[in-house]
Amino acid sequence: MTGAPIAQTGSPAGHVYVSRLLTDVAMARLSDLGYPLIVGGDQPPGRDELLAGMAGAAAAVLTLTERIDRQVLAAAGPQLRILANVAVGYDNIDIQAATDVGVTVTNTPGVLDQASADHTFALILAVCRRIVEGDRLIRSGSEWVWGPRMLVGLDISAGATLGIVGYGRIGQAVGRRARAFDMQVIATSGTRTSGTAADGTTFLPLMGLLASSDVVSVHTPLTAATRHLINAAALTAMKPTAYLVNTARGGVVDETALIQALQTNRIRGAALDVFEGEPRVNPAFLALDNVVLTPHTASAGQATRDAMGVLAVRNVGAVLGDQPPITPVN
Ligand code: GLV
Repeated sequence: MTGAPIAQTGSPAGHVYVSRLLTDVAMARLSDLGYPLIVGGDQPPGRDELLAGMAGAAAAVLTLTERIDRQVLAAAGPQLRILANVAVGYDNIDIQAATDVGVTVTNTPGVLDQASADHTFALILAVCRRIVEGDRLIRSGSEWVWGPRMLVGLDISAGATLGIVGYGRIGQAVGRRARAFDMQVIATSGTRTSGTAADGTTFLPLMGLLASSDVVSVHTPLTAATRHLINAAALTAMKPTAYLVNTARGGVVDETALIQALQTNRIRGAALDVFEGEPRVNPAFLALDNVVLTPHTASAGQATRDAMGVLAVRNVGAVLGDQPPITPVN
């Protein structure tokens, strides 16, 4: 789907291209920058619209739906100085290509940790306590009555173990919530697979974590090293009673293997905010009652989305004002 027609203010020479309409707070900060703006719509731009908006831009404020590669950078031209992604993840941008042409790339770390952890925890509770199944049952109009065996799920507060894959800012924020629910928290990260963190979290190698967890929650960025980290072997290592939660990036999980694991009851359930072919969702997930799905909304709190947009705008202001970027990734 393409975005709304491009709105344009001022001359496009040395303009700031904004691929998607941000929140009102962030849009106001963009106007305050004082540069001509070319602003996309509510939907992602089509490729031609993206190339046209980037042409002649001094800066671009982008979202994770825009794929930025060498073709886009060439279309932009040599005056381009910064790509400000309104996301903590930046796998949509070819960082090497941007670095090669001297373009700064920034992301929005820190401001979305709490919202993302809240959403992750909502998914953990939803899938373990079968909230969406219950909602569907009532909405279906079917007769129901309280029953000792009805919609029974996992008591996460009865000492269940949460395994966090990727113990960065968001993983740690999820761990804090889990401890408040009396869960045992274990973690693995690229750099740490043993020992204990200051917050009491025990580090394990991935396979040990998978075998020990009642809930596995994924919080790694998507890189060449983490693509399909949760593959068939990883899913086989999980307890058959365990749940998988992914609010990171779809590509970290091999969806074909996950669907097979769910269909054969290799694991008990999954909750997914992100998908491999996003926004396409594999229809096999839709047929599974033990799967909770949300449309990549983990950071979708109003204050969080304002803060993400404002941080991206501040990065643009800094770089165009010859100051160092606030949150650079290259
Ligand atoms: C959202 O997925 C983000 O990377 O901020």
